[in-house]
Amino acid sequence: MKKRLLNYMCCPDCKKDFKLFITKEAGGEVITGTLVCEHCRKKYPIVDGVAVVLNDKKLKDFAKTKKNWENWWKKVRQDDDAELYEKLWTEAEKNLGGEPLYKKEHFTGKVVLDAGCGTGRHIKSDFSKYNCKEIIGVDIGMQVFEAKKKNNAANTHFVQADLTNLPFKKEVFDVFTSHGVLHHTPNPKYTFTCLSRHLKVGGRAMIYVYHKEWAHHTSHKKSLFLDAMYANGVMVWQGIRKVSSRMPHPVIKGFAYTMAAKASLQQALEKKGITKPLASFVKLMPPFAYLGVNFHERLIRNYDHYSATFNYFQSIEEVVEWYKQAGFNDVEIVSVPVSIRGIKEKSKPVKDNKPLRIMQYPLIEHFEFRKEWEQLYKAHKRKKK
Ligand SMILES: C[S@@+](CC[C@H](N)C(=O)[O-])C[C@H]1O[C@@H](n2cnc3c(N)ncnc32)[C@H](O)[C@@H]1O
Ligand SMILES: [Zn+2]
Repeated sequence: MKKRLLNYMCCPDCKKDFKLFITKEAGGEVITGTLVCEHCRKKYPIVDGVAVVLNDKKLKDFAKTKKNWENWWKKVRQDDDAELYEKLWTEAEKNLGGEPLYKKEHFTGKVVLDAGCGTGRHIKSDFSKYNCKEIIGVDIGMQVFEAKKKNNAANTHFVQADLTNLPFKKEVFDVFTSHGVLHHTPNPKYTFTCLSRHLKVGGRAMIYVYHKEWAHHTSHKKSLFLDAMYANGVMVWQGIRKVSSRMPHPVIKGFAYTMAAKASLQQALEKKGITKPLASFVKLMPPFAYLGVNFHERLIRNYDHYSATFNYFQSIEEVVEWYKQAGFNDVEIVSVPVSIRGIKEKSKPVKDNKPLRIMQYPLIEHFEFRKEWEQLYKAHKRKKK
């Protein structure tokens, strides 16, 4: 931990400054030490250069979700392929003429919080190239240590903490980003509001959360029967998730393997004209399986969806409302739903009915996006051969 991170930090409970006690320092960083709140007498360790500010009592509610995420990163998603998927994902967005969520001009010279950074994928692929003043990555799981190893630069900092109980002062960040995280917290809107408190007035938030239309497949509207079958499948899937997310890792993994195999079968049948109706039958037969370009992707997506304790889906309107109620304006709805940017206009949101200034970019439909991405993956494989 770099000592200057203290300028942004405070005790998550009483909001008083921390006192830093150092046991080991190297390369201008505190490697081990303790952060002490002299007011409420709480102590938090610094381990391998990462400040670990977790509240044991609150953590009890989070223990299983934290563990599931740790297993996902460490035991399921370890393959290098995962990095490739993300690279091609950005390329697909560009090819379809989409407005990206992250743009360099919004980051240069800024103090950036990456809320739920995982292993720091966006810090590595995007933010580290944008000349940010500081980048602070936070995650509740042990993967934040991996994020530090992968992104240990002069302007990066990493903290293990819960997004609804952050050890940061009010209104200290110029930017916060959160990609694929808020829908995995018990109350996504509340988590968004908590993050907004740490953003300066005039600062920018940029988030991506799961889209409702994608989960409920309302966009295809091909037939009432198919829609009803799909809605039934979603209900079964949500029910199974409630049980599977509480299971130990080997059980979830076994289930994810089964679902990945179901997806493989469905995808194989879809290829041949004569077996297509059979593919639809496999697809609509619950429980639902997530597709992927190869078995590994099918496995990581199915593990992700069946292990996440919380998995909510939002409409664009709902997320715009989060921004409004947290005092934001100049909201930009960007191409891959639901990806939204906004500027914090007021410290304390005022309840009024004034419409927001909203900019809407052309949206990319989920299945159109997926098709483009699959083609890019195939082209990449052919080139490699
Ligand atoms: C799908 S991953 C996304 C990671 C990263 N943003 C990315 O795009 O690669 C979700 C991450 O959110 C983290 N997370 C979930 N709930 C959290 C909470 N309450 N506080 C902090 N992190 C949380 C998980 O540990 C996990 O690493
Ligand atoms: Zn305190």
